[in-house]
Amino acid sequence: MNFKNMPNHLAIIMDGNGRWAKKRGLDRIHGHIEGIKSLKTIIKAVMEYKIKYLTVYAFSSENWQRPESEVDSLMTLLDEYIRIELSYLIENKIRLGFIGNIVKIPEKSKKALLDAADRTKDFDSLFLTLALSYGSKEEILNAVSKTAEDLKQGKIASADINDNLFSSYLYTSGMPDPDMLIRTSGERRISNFMLYQIAYTEIYFTKTLWPDFRKKDLIRALQDYEKRIRRFGKTDI
Ligand code: FPP
Repeated sequence: MNFKNMPNHLAIIMDGNGRWAKKRGLDRIHGHIEGIKSLKTIIKAVMEYKIKYLTVYAFSSENWQRPESEVDSLMTLLDEYIRIELSYLIENKIRLGFIGNIVKIPEKSKKALLDAADRTKDFDSLFLTLALSYGSKEEILNAVSKTAEDLKQGKIASADINDNLFSSYLYTSGMPDPDMLIRTSGERRISNFMLYQIAYTEIYFTKTLWPDFRKKDLIRALQDYEKRIRRFGKTDI
């Protein structure tokens, strides 16, 4: 499959796992398990199409309010996912990173995450970033507070504050902004995801539930992206 324009950075809000499970009379966790299969398939396809950055919303700062049993299962899945997939990441030279306030993540899963991030830190065939315990408002407020602290200490001057400098205080420091954002499951909102970074991102909504989202659905989304004319606020002449 050849595309004229490809996103360099693809971000995905993987939504609809719960509804997928409910439709089948299954417990929500089965939706998340199937969602991991979609994630693996999409990582493979993204590698094939040489998309450099893939950022996926795996757990929001608001998701902590879900029933304890679901939170526990998601954390266990995270731990298992990392342990099982680490050799695949290493073999394929994928760098695993994360964005979010991971202090809340249980010790075992956090250790697996930090260990995998460290063991893959020199790779660059794909930058795979998991948004975990992530909330964009919190990220921006945190960046504002760090900027204010550095101003107070004289490390920066107010005239230095521009997009580049401010971006360096975000969790996504060093990463390009997403070119395309996909949200599955028919919901049409951003849900506190990368609010600063998606200023000029092309957004694609699909009704497909995340556990059903596979390579053909990614191709459809990329074909849609291919047709978009990105003007970044300018005219195209
Ligand atoms: C949204 O579906 C999905 C999540 C909150 C979790 C996303 C997690 C995965 C795809 C699997 C876990 C991934 C890792 C790396 C551990 P939902 O539960 O909100 O679905 P609903 O809106 O239908 O209820």
